[in-house]
Amino acid sequence: MSEKASISINGKSHELPVITGTENEQAIDISKLRDVTGAVTLDPGFKNTGATQSAITFLDGEKGVLHYRGYPIEQLAEQSTFLEVAYLLIYGDLPAPDTLTDFRAKISRHTLIHEDMKKFFDGFPSKSHPMGQLSCLVGALSAFYPESLDPNPSEEEENLTIMKLLAKMPTIVSWIYKKSLGHPVIYPRNELNYVHNFMNMTFGQITEDTKIDPAVVRAMHKLLILHADHEQNCSASTVRIVGSSNANLYASISAGISALWGPLHGGANQAVIEMLENIRKDGGNSAKWIAKAKDKKDPFRLMGFGHRVYKNFDPRAKIIKQACDDVLEKLGIDDPVLDIAKELEEAALKDQYFVDRKLYPNVDFYSGIIYRALGFPTDMFTVLFALGRLPGWIAQWKEMKANKEPIGRPRQIYTGSTRRDYIPLDKR
Ligand code: ACO
Repeated sequence: MSEKASISINGKSHELPVITGTENEQAIDISKLRDVTGAVTLDPGFKNTGATQSAITFLDGEKGVLHYRGYPIEQLAEQSTFLEVAYLLIYGDLPAPDTLTDFRAKISRHTLIHEDMKKFFDGFPSKSHPMGQLSCLVGALSAFYPESLDPNPSEEEENLTIMKLLAKMPTIVSWIYKKSLGHPVIYPRNELNYVHNFMNMTFGQITEDTKIDPAVVRAMHKLLILHADHEQNCSASTVRIVGSSNANLYASISAGISALWGPLHGGANQAVIEMLENIRKDGGNSAKWIAKAKDKKDPFRLMGFGHRVYKNFDPRAKIIKQACDDVLEKLGIDDPVLDIAKELEEAALKDQYFVDRKLYPNVDFYSGIIYRALGFPTDMFTVLFALGRLPGWIAQWKEMKANKEPIGRPRQIYTGSTRRDYIPLDKR
């Protein structure tokens, strides 16, 4: 029997359908609410609003569960590779071996970026933030591939745009890094796999003699997989809403990159390391910084802590904390900020303020310490998050189009002045 919800407004009662998802999540379908009652709902920050029905990622914030297309994140992080997860997210199922080989081969055909794009790199000041450059460069891809502007492409054309974006993103990210150093860029090598190719373009030529440490490669796969999707977060919602106007994939992803940049979202990984460094320079007194985070008059927040949907451990944070210990041990690195992070976590988890508000470490509390151990500078961290999140954004954009979702256009409750007459300048 299908459930109904009833709402009573201005003395009249109305019944609304209730939708149940495959994991038994329930939602009141208010899509006809305004037609039947004249009222809209108000939910700043969409804390209680489902914007879509999606089959990509499931998460249960109370239990700390995260699945991509039904597969637990713990299994994917441990056993899978980033491209396999990208395929899973975008096309819905794990690829058969031949399909994965074909997917890899198609992507490796498009790793070069147009030589004219190098002029953009020349134009950016050398210290400009990598995220500003990335959103600009990804948006600019649309200028080089005008066929992507077609809002109703064939399946083949849409797939080609997806492959191009997946292929060019590592090249763009590593070239941003090279530019920041003033180094010549390294061109993609298509015989290398996705992660090796990226590491080669970023850190230097891989030869038979100079292979990358397998621990580093595995850590990179793990980080990219853990960031690959997270259902309707700020940047994914941005990608969907921009795409809902029929904007092309490059423009939609460029908007998602901008949404990710903020320190309350993907920018948190950079903010965490900066915070830990400040605490270290200040003498490493974690109690003082916990007190600051609790003080409502102080704007300081414990970065990398808290999450809109996780009211229990973020399962990604658990995996990353373990990976952080493993990578630092394998690489023989002793990073003092890791001890500070662990001290802060321990103190916060025992503190009533954090307990009451169910604030736990999120995905970004430990990720920056690994990125740093792998040799990335702090301002590259959020760009690495974007590289990992790309398949998730693509999957969200593709699903939004396949569902033929209407243009995203929220309502508002107007609180400004009521009608008044214009007063000419000389009479004010
Ligand atoms: N430090 C101190 N207090 C916090 C923190 C924090 N990191 N996070 C939340 N709180 C407090 C808030 O002050 C609020 O307290 P109150 O009820 O007394 O007013 C309460 O906890 C609820 O917080 P909200 O800001 O209302 O929760 P919301 O869901 O809107 O925000 C967010 C979630 C933005 C992630 C928040 O926890 C935060 O700012 N964390 C730090 C930034 C961060 O790590 N962001 C990355 C998130 S993961 C990602 O996007 C990849």
